[in-house]
Amino acid sequence: MMKNITSHPDISTKTIRNFSIPSIGLGTYQMQGSTCQEAVRDAILMGYRHIDTAQMYDNEIAVGTGIAASGIPREALFVTNKIWLDNLEPEKLKSTFQQSLEKLQMNYIDLLLIHWPPANEETITNALKTMRELRSKEYIRKIGVSNFTPRLLVKALAIDEIIANQVEYHPMLAQNDLIDICETYNVFLIAYAPLGQGQILGTELLQQIGKKYGKSESQVILRWLIQQRLVATIPKASNHEHRKSNIDIFDFELSESEMHEIAALDRGARQVNPQFAPRWDEKFELKH
Ligand SMILES: NC(=O)c1ccc[n+]([C@@H]2O[C@H](COP(=O)([O-])OP(=O)(O)OC[C@H]3O[C@@H](n4cnc5c(N)ncnc54)[C@H](OP(=O)(O)O)[C@@H]3O)[C@@H](O)[C@H]2O)c1
Repeated sequence: MMKNITSHPDISTKTIRNFSIPSIGLGTYQMQGSTCQEAVRDAILMGYRHIDTAQMYDNEIAVGTGIAASGIPREALFVTNKIWLDNLEPEKLKSTFQQSLEKLQMNYIDLLLIHWPPANEETITNALKTMRELRSKEYIRKIGVSNFTPRLLVKALAIDEIIANQVEYHPMLAQNDLIDICETYNVFLIAYAPLGQGQILGTELLQQIGKKYGKSESQVILRWLIQQRLVATIPKASNHEHRKSNIDIFDFELSESEMHEIAALDRGARQVNPQFAPRWDEKFELKH
């Protein structure tokens, strides 16, 4: 564990296979309307360049309006969107994707994800082929997946060049098997719910480490995530001070022993586990 610690001095963006992604993005789940619009605009003006949305969040119009209001050129931003489970069949995927572009006031998406793996795995193949078509027409720059288990990620990698798997990841929920696969295939792991949706704050070790660097517990968690080579993260903050704090993590560095101590906090504490989730504990052995 933790063999993937990065030693690169500037980790504000991560690059693999010539593709770069800002390490910290703004999550927008459960933010809508003017709150979402203002959060996105404010985040961009304070330096965020990566915004995460999804068809299911019902906030694409607000995200698009916030981005437009920031005045920052589209090419300077990295926007992720996710195709919802009901929209994965080819025709539905294409039509809802076009609607998403309109709502976002954009003509391309940087990273398009399958939001959750569908029960019928044939649907994954068809969806990835359709997304490949969107990519060939330059509607999307890269294809990714979300909530894919190790076996499903390897399956997806056999179908197309997957650049990222977005999954829940924070100190209380290790993702060793997925990180191993991401290392092997050069895939980003985008950590969602990095703060455990606020439920994991209040840990003495994180507070102690934070005190040493003059940083908060959340800042220690986010720094711990992005100090891992292939990890980017997308904390959601509707509060301005939280947004400011979450991006102010580039002026300190956790030691290797602190990285390990934080990793040892793992207790399998998964926050996001809907009834349609895949079998997280499915055994899978990566053949090296
Ligand atoms: N692919 C998927 O299936 C999936 C699933 C879940 C989430 N996501 C994505 O990941 C993003 C992040 O996950 P999440 O929103 O579930 O949870 P999260 O980012 O772990 O936690 C958000 C909560 O933490 C609070 N918070 C943020 N910054 C803080 C700080 N500096 N100090 C104290 N509290 C702080 C927020 O409060 P305030 O809002 O009051 O600032 C909010 O209550 C989502 O918004 C979404 O974009 C993806």
